[in-house]
Amino acid sequence: MLLHHEKVDFLHLPTPIEYLPTLSEELGIRLYIKRDDLTNLGVGGNKLRKLQYFLYDAQQKGATMLLTVGGAQTNHGRLTAAVAAKYGLRCAICCVDRYPNEVSANILLDRIMGADVILEAPKEGVPESQQLAALVERMTKKYEAQGEKVYYIPVGGSNELGILGYYECAMELTHQAEEMDLKDARVVTTVGSMGTYLGLFCGLKNEGSPLSLTGVCISPWSDDPQEHVMKYYNRVKEFYGDDLTMTVTPSDFDVTQEYTWGAYNNPVREVRDMVCHVARKEAIILDPCYTGKTFYGMVQMIKKGKIRQGETVIFLHTGGLPGINTPFHRLGFEADLIDGVTVL
Ligand SMILES: Cc1ncc(COP(=O)(O)O)c(C=O)c1O
Repeated sequence: MLLHHEKVDFLHLPTPIEYLPTLSEELGIRLYIKRDDLTNLGVGGNKLRKLQYFLYDAQQKGATMLLTVGGAQTNHGRLTAAVAAKYGLRCAICCVDRYPNEVSANILLDRIMGADVILEAPKEGVPESQQLAALVERMTKKYEAQGEKVYYIPVGGSNELGILGYYECAMELTHQAEEMDLKDARVVTTVGSMGTYLGLFCGLKNEGSPLSLTGVCISPWSDDPQEHVMKYYNRVKEFYGDDLTMTVTPSDFDVTQEYTWGAYNNPVREVRDMVCHVARKEAIILDPCYTGKTFYGMVQMIKKGKIRQGETVIFLHTGGLPGINTPFHRLGFEADLIDGVTVL
C-alpha cells in the first residue's frame, strides 16, 4: 500500500464508468469507458490525479510557484496551470517547441488561467532533453530572482511521486468493477510519459486486483517497450522499496508500440476518423494526440483478436479535448468535415 503519501484532495472521485452500447455491439465486446476526462479543474484530464500529490509536496516545501515542462500543446501544463490558479500559486510552463502560430488550444487556456508560457524553438544538434534542462534552469533562476520558491514537476508529472494518482485510480477501478460486475475486465489506457500506465500497473498488481491492463503508446521509443517501462519501474521500486511487494519482469508489461503512427502528436486521418466515429455513436469526444490514437489501436487489437470477442474492456478516457483546436489538428478536421457545413 503506497497511499500513506498525502495529497490535496481536490477531485470529486470516483469518476464515472459508463457502458457504450452501440460501440459494444459493433465491436463484439462489452465496452465501458472511465471518464477521467470529467475531472473537475481546468477542463479535466488524467494529470489532475497526479497533481493532487505534487501540490501537497509543493505546499509542504513552501513553494510559491509550480514550474513544469512539455510540448507546446501540453495538457499536463494546462492542468498544472489550473491547480496553480486554484491554490494561489504562480505557474510557468517551459516548452522546447515551435510556436504554433496561434494560441487556440492549451496555450490559450494556460494564459486564461494566468500561467506564463515560455517557448524555445529546438536548436540544431542539441538533444531536446538537454535544451529543456537548460531552459528550466534559466527560468527557475529568473523566478527565484523575483522572490518565488519554485516547485519543479517533470514532463507529464511522471516521476516516482507521479504514479500515486493512478495507483489510487487502480484501486478505485477495482472497487467499481466489483460493484458493476466487471471483475474480469481489461483496462485500456494511453501511454505517454508512462505515469498513468505504471501507476495503474502497480496499483492493480500490488493490491491483487483481478483486472488486467493494456497500454497503447502514442509516440515511438528507441528501445524495447517492455524494457523501457521496466527502467521506470526500477526507479519506482527503489523509491517505494518494500511497499511494493510484487515481483515484476519486463514481460509483465502489456504495452504496444504498434499504433504510434511514427511520431508524437502528428495529424493522422484514420485517428481523426475514429474521433468522429466515437462521437457519432456515443457522443464521447476523444482527442487526436492521445485518446483517439489509443481508441484506434484498441479497435485494431479487437480486429486482430488480441482483444477477444466477448471480452469486457474499460477504456480509460484521459482527457485532452483542447487538442482538437491545436492548429494543425483543427485544420485537418476542418478539411475532413467542411462538406457538411452549409453557408446560406
Ligand atoms: C490526454 C492525455 N492522455 C494521456 C496522457 C498520457 O499520460 P502519461 O503521460 O501519464 O502516460 C497524457 C499525457 O500528457 C494526456 O495529456
